[in-house]
Amino acid sequence: MPIYVIMSKNVTQVLLREWRMAMVSSNKFYTLKGYMLLENNAITSSMEDYLEMIYRIHLSGEVVRINTLAENLNVKPSSATKMVNNLKENGLVSSEKYGYIKLTDSGIELGKYLLFRHDTLHSFLCYVNQSENELEQVEKIEHFLNVQTIENINRLLDKMKSSS
Ligand code: CO
Repeated sequence: MPIYVIMSKNVTQVLLREWRMAMVSSNKFYTLKGYMLLENNAITSSMEDYLEMIYRIHLSGEVVRINTLAENLNVKPSSATKMVNNLKENGLVSSEKYGYIKLTDSGIELGKYLLFRHDTLHSFLCYVNQSENELEQVEKIEHFLNVQTIENINRLLDKMKSSS
């Protein structure tokens, strides 16, 4: 799967702020345990891509390893190691013995949102374009839409599907 790395600290800072607000106000996401950890940090678009992939592997029930992660993201293991260290510094993952990567509670909450965002956009683009695969566009745009937009697209999608 190709990965489009768009580094934009400011955009991600805004996303994090909105995400935290949504955590508190929405019943869809729980209040994030230990979200204060993230207060003064920002995760980049690239870190979001990694966390989304780690969360996917985690959901599949497999142990998350650097090599699996690098393979899935089409990057070198050394790049994956670097990025996992960034996630670790932000309290989103912790690494265990034998190079396993474990999501923290914060990592699970953010990962869940990132996957929801990805899937929502993918379904939406497939629906409007009557296509099966819109991964390339999703990977490019997903980092730039806020929580409110994603939730509204999700609601719109439900409406469109139930009326068609
Ligand atoms: Co994605």
